[in-house]
Amino acid sequence: MTFFITTAIDYTNGEPHIGHAYEKVLADAIARYQRLKGNDVFFLTGVDQHGQKVQQSAQKQGVAPAEFVDRLTEKFLALWKKLDIGYDGWAATTEPIHKRCVQAMLQLLWEKGDFYRAKRTGYYSVRQEQFLTDKERGEDGEFGPEWGEVVLLEEENYYFKLAQHRQWLLDLIDARSAAGRPLVTPDFRVAELRNAVEKLSGDLCISRPKSRLEWGIELPFDKDFVTYVWFDALSNYVSFAGYDPTPGADQSVFRSRWPAIHVIGKDILIPPHGIYWPIMLKACGFADDDIPSLLVHGWWNIAGAKMSKSTGNSVDPDVLADAFGVAALRYYLLSDIATGRDADFSEERLVQRYNGDLANSLGNLLNRSLSMAKRYREGVLRKPPASPLDGFVAEKVAAYSRRMDAFETHAAIESAWEVIIRCNAYVEESAPWKLAKDPAAAEKLDEVLYSLAESLRIVSILITPFLPASADAIRSQLAWGGAIGMDRCAWGGLADGHRLGDPVPVFPRLG
Ligand code: MSP
Repeated sequence: MTFFITTAIDYTNGEPHIGHAYEKVLADAIARYQRLKGNDVFFLTGVDQHGQKVQQSAQKQGVAPAEFVDRLTEKFLALWKKLDIGYDGWAATTEPIHKRCVQAMLQLLWEKGDFYRAKRTGYYSVRQEQFLTDKERGEDGEFGPEWGEVVLLEEENYYFKLAQHRQWLLDLIDARSAAGRPLVTPDFRVAELRNAVEKLSGDLCISRPKSRLEWGIELPFDKDFVTYVWFDALSNYVSFAGYDPTPGADQSVFRSRWPAIHVIGKDILIPPHGIYWPIMLKACGFADDDIPSLLVHGWWNIAGAKMSKSTGNSVDPDVLADAFGVAALRYYLLSDIATGRDADFSEERLVQRYNGDLANSLGNLLNRSLSMAKRYREGVLRKPPASPLDGFVAEKVAAYSRRMDAFETHAAIESAWEVIIRCNAYVEESAPWKLAKDPAAAEKLDEVLYSLAESLRIVSILITPFLPASADAIRSQLAWGGAIGMDRCAWGGLADGHRLGDPVPVFPRLG
């Protein structure tokens, strides 16, 4: 089975910030865990490169849109590499394969009669070159000075018949929840989506005249228009997974991956991912079971407020990774937010969690365990018949798995750290330095040293999704390798006579 995970594709009209980084790290941890379980994984991420804002930003800088997006795409690519995001597919919406797929989907729906052309009148900002809605009105009900001259304009566009699928979507939401495969996780978002679908009315405008927007994918049935935002952006999930809507096309690669789990932020659940996307797929002929599931994460805020470049409070993950290290950043992003909820970003907390959990708890445990084994037994382990820790560790591995299966990375991290905390307490209780002085306690000392190394071996597997490089470093110090998987979490993996490596600090303290 292939576990197909995607993240929202990031707008290339701005630079990556900590929110983008969180989403990729979260999806990467889920993907790595699924690989540990032995599942095939296809992890797709990428960039959303078309649209009005890109066209405007490029114009302001006096460069072609293609050059503008290339520059920003480089930043995303370099950041994901730095943060160890192990994706399998890269979705850049200016790719020909994507354009072809989007146009084929549009053509299919045009021929099926799912679109119509209509004239609508609306308020248009000449300065910003966009139509305004009531959302853009100020408290006094007027459009503010930032919009410049606002005129009433009539424009013809293409519309997608959305509202006719309202009842189908409500039924799908209910059926999927009843089948234990909810359309949306976490649970409280199901009700939120359902309420929004109840109120669904009207259709979706899917085009912009080229006179106003050129930087987009041309409608295959009307060359004077490009498609706007959602048909372009959402379709990346299928176009880069091998989907070809042409009747009779070979769908075998696509079928081996689909359906997907989309990892998205809460702001793009309603309406795009929760309403437009299922309906678009349904209209293209997808079966109910093939409508993808949505894992909706919360937001990182700054002192309770939305992060934004214009207010100067956006946090650059690149700078953080350089200052504190990739392990500190990944660990913080995965442990200090409950999946689905919001959290406040704090550099102080990042340092605190790193020093407390990684440098002190895990780092010290590794260091003292290897040092004692080296000092008292020249690094060679004797496998005892039993250990006071084996049952406890097995329990925590089971809890970890349950939590990871539910995408609760923060809680899974807690399970792994319960093992680490227990091991540190066990060192204090058993006082190996005293046992080493007593020849009658030789067997007990072997039991303690083995239990610590064996627990660390298992911990190194559990932390792999969160801290892949550190997990590798720990395994190399334990001198234990080979294929790494959840099935190797069973107690007793280190052989009798196993020789451990030398301790080298993995998590140097941050000052
Ligand atoms: N391009 C659209 C998505 C199209 S998906 C077919 C978009 N891009 S975005 O760059 O604005 O956001 C990309 C992802 O980052 C979204 O899932 C969004 O929710 C997430 N985040 C943006 N800011 C965030 C935080 N402050 N915190 C956590 N995630 C946030 O939307």
